[in-house]
Amino acid sequence: MKINYTTVNGKKIRLKKQDLQRKLIDWLREDLDLTGTKNGCGIGVCGTCTVLLNRQPVRSCITKVEKIIDKEILTIEGLAYPDGSLHPLQQAFIDAGAIQCGFCTPGMILTAHAFLLHNKKINRDNIRKALAANICRCTGYQQIIDAVMLAAKSYSRSK
Ligand code: FES
Ligand code: FES
Repeated sequence: MKINYTTVNGKKIRLKKQDLQRKLIDWLREDLDLTGTKNGCGIGVCGTCTVLLNRQPVRSCITKVEKIIDKEILTIEGLAYPDGSLHPLQQAFIDAGAIQCGFCTPGMILTAHAFLLHNKKINRDNIRKALAANICRCTGYQQIIDAVMLAAKSYSRSK
């Protein structure tokens, strides 16, 4: 019998056959206790449940566990440094006042992280487009875009 593995936040994990058809969000939250990933709409519309699959955003509420075999998942818990200090993007969200109720924030930060990893042309319009599918009902997005602009400097330094 083939044994399947995945990597979550840098840690290799063996997948059980009975988990392969479960929703990724349920498996992350219930089995791995990674409750930073939030369930908003549950039907792939709001972006709240976004995690990165091989450094690209996916909606974990409509992704089955079988899709992550031999791949790498990053959740919000994996973004901070091992010593517990915040990633510059997380710090920028705090500094720019971009966190309000915080429910959408993990998905917003991970979508922004993928954008900053893969794009060299960073401006407010591009950030707005990248985050268009992440819905936040509390704020006007202004501070969120400010935060991503602020963090962009630390990404360009590390390229
Ligand atoms: S909870 Fe997954 S897209 Fe809304
Ligand atoms: S801060 Fe995003 S939904 Fe409230």
